[in-house]
Amino acid sequence: MSLLPWVLALHTLAAVIWVGGMFFAHMLLRPALGDRQPADRLGLWRQVLPRFFRWVWLSIATLLVTGYGVVLWGYGGFGNLPPHVDIMQTTGLMMMALYAYLFFLPWRAFRRSFDKGELAGAAGQLGKIRQIITINLPLGLFTTAVGATGGFWTY
Ligand code: HEM
Repeated sequence: MSLLPWVLALHTLAAVIWVGGMFFAHMLLRPALGDRQPADRLGLWRQVLPRFFRWVWLSIATLLVTGYGVVLWGYGGFGNLPPHVDIMQTTGLMMMALYAYLFFLPWRAFRRSFDKGELAGAAGQLGKIRQIITINLPLGLFTTAVGATGGFWTY
């Protein structure tokens, strides 16, 4: 039996975990915490985000290995790619670059400020994280839709 369905299943599950996690955090958890005291609200993100970020790193590694695995062994290389895979690759790499920026700059600064008790600084950094998710969430929804349906648009 071909390995391809297993590899694509892993690829899809990684996309669901990353994009679904962003949707839950941004669209549901964030508004639900709106009326809490800053220490309480920021403290919750301090606990939730590192747990989510471990899954995002795992999802990114899985998307890259499985995605380029299918490109190389399924499509026989970069010369034969249909447009939807090129689009997915481009927007997917943009999402990964934005996430890496978010993780290494605002997230680390948030953690440092929060752990020193500087709540105003931490809130500023959390605002930057929110702005990046405002871009990365629609990009993730778009990339998922393109990946899943891209091959059918020409029919
Ligand atoms: C960045 C590098 C990526 C590469 C090289 C890549 C490559 C691929 C390839 C070759 C396919 C099979 C497409 C087909 O044969 O029609 C695929 C499917 C898919 N990709 Fe990606 N992908 C990448 C990133 C992403 C990202 C970031 C997401 C979503 C967040 C995503 C979501 C999907 C989905 C939902 C499918 C459909 C799976 C299926 O229906 O079998 N991909 N990808």
